[in-house]
Amino acid sequence: MKVDVVLGLQWGDEGKGKVVDVLTPDFGVIARFQGGPNAGHSLHFGDKVHVLRSIPSGIFRENAVNIIGNGVVLDPVTFAQETGELEQLGVDVKAKIRIAKKAHLILPTHRMLDAASEAAKGKAKIGSTLKGIGPTYMDKTGRNGLRVGDILSPSFMERYERLKQKHIAMLAQFEGFTYDIAEYEAQWFAGIETLRQFTIIEAEHEMNRLLNNGQAVLAEGAQGSLLDVDYGTYPFVTSSNTVCAGACIGLGVAPNRIGEVFGIFKAYCTRVGSGPFPTELFDQTGKDLQQIGHEFGAVTGRERRCGWLDLVALKYSAMINGVTQLIMMKSDVLNTFPTIKVAVAYEIGGQRVTEFPYETNEEITPIYKEFEGWSCDINGIRRYEEFPRQFKEYVEFIERETGVPVKIISVGPDRDETIVR
Ligand code: GDP
Ligand code: IMO
Ligand code: MG
Repeated sequence: MKVDVVLGLQWGDEGKGKVVDVLTPDFGVIARFQGGPNAGHSLHFGDKVHVLRSIPSGIFRENAVNIIGNGVVLDPVTFAQETGELEQLGVDVKAKIRIAKKAHLILPTHRMLDAASEAAKGKAKIGSTLKGIGPTYMDKTGRNGLRVGDILSPSFMERYERLKQKHIAMLAQFEGFTYDIAEYEAQWFAGIETLRQFTIIEAEHEMNRLLNNGQAVLAEGAQGSLLDVDYGTYPFVTSSNTVCAGACIGLGVAPNRIGEVFGIFKAYCTRVGSGPFPTELFDQTGKDLQQIGHEFGAVTGRERRCGWLDLVALKYSAMINGVTQLIMMKSDVLNTFPTIKVAVAYEIGGQRVTEFPYETNEEITPIYKEFEGWSCDINGIRRYEEFPRQFKEYVEFIERETGVPVKIISVGPDRDETIVR
């Protein structure tokens, strides 16, 4: 069997949680391959909203195995909170979740380093979620990190203390930065005890075994391609590879095991945190998108910046990921806009540019194509044929430009508000 991959093509929050939840009945295994509690994936069903951070979005479906892959960075505190809440809802988390031995641990001091680094950057800050993501991946590539498997080792405490002391020395370099980790550290060690109650696996072996045994696997990306550490709007990115290739690294599966690549995008664009956003709107239309789309961070509650769909960026993401099917989310948010714009090129220094450029911080003027809005409520529609002409024109233009079919359309947050073509 193959690994199908679901990933965000923009700056995150495209609606990955909803899509994974909708697709899960077709898969026996759901696996997260990168990121950590910087992610917030929302699932709406039965009048409730559930926000998942480190746990795969297949957790609410019967019989699905949920794997936290080695590419993920795990904070025992958030993990214990999240699993505790799920248990309260009657989810048998211990039976359904398996954690890779090679996943790295976010230490309390990693969070402090994230906060200190952001404070020191001042205006140039990344707008990090302050969950310790960057410092943890730095320790991973710097070969200093602690991994989930290490909690089983008799020398765990000694290694924890050594890394903590190293971090304390680093934190001393940030002038004026004060912190107190005592309380969080106590929670962290309680979280380690929670982790010990879970099944810890050699994930690469398990993944390949499951595939060889005919299990269909869905890999769930976090963040979005434009936040990828290599291909995103660097340095305003996260610290992991959010693109499709990251699924191979983060799960231990070979590239020829990848099947469908589901690329998710919003019918417009949002970004939370700092960094370039060529089609960002600073006017009433931007505010309307934010209000109608409830564009506030699922993790931090921060306002998400809003703008029109950017096809220069979308085509780039489709290319890097080898997207085989597009999934358009939050289409209903555009219901009331009389005119809808899509950036088809950028003007940079008097030149028309259609390839996503190296430097997106430069003066970029998007060149827009305008579409007539559909000006009606599409939330109740369940078959593609029923969509208004203007809506179909919008969708079919995106398909022609990207060369990829739009196979799923979402018209509301609920599981049921989904059209599969
Ligand atoms: P993720 O991080 O990619 O999983 O996305 P988030 O959960 O952070 O943000 C997406 C938000 O949009 C959530 O609040 C979803 O419930 C909501 N949502 C998803 N699909 C739709 C849709 O088609 N229409 C509307 N109005 N909301 C949606
Ligand atoms: P999901 O999975 C949107 C952004 C942060 C910041 C930058 C770096 O829900 O789509 P980090 O904490 O990773 O060091 O922050 O990346 N960011 C996200 N934005 N959705 C996310 O996840 C994000 N995870 C990180 O706002 O700009
Ligand atoms: Mg999110």
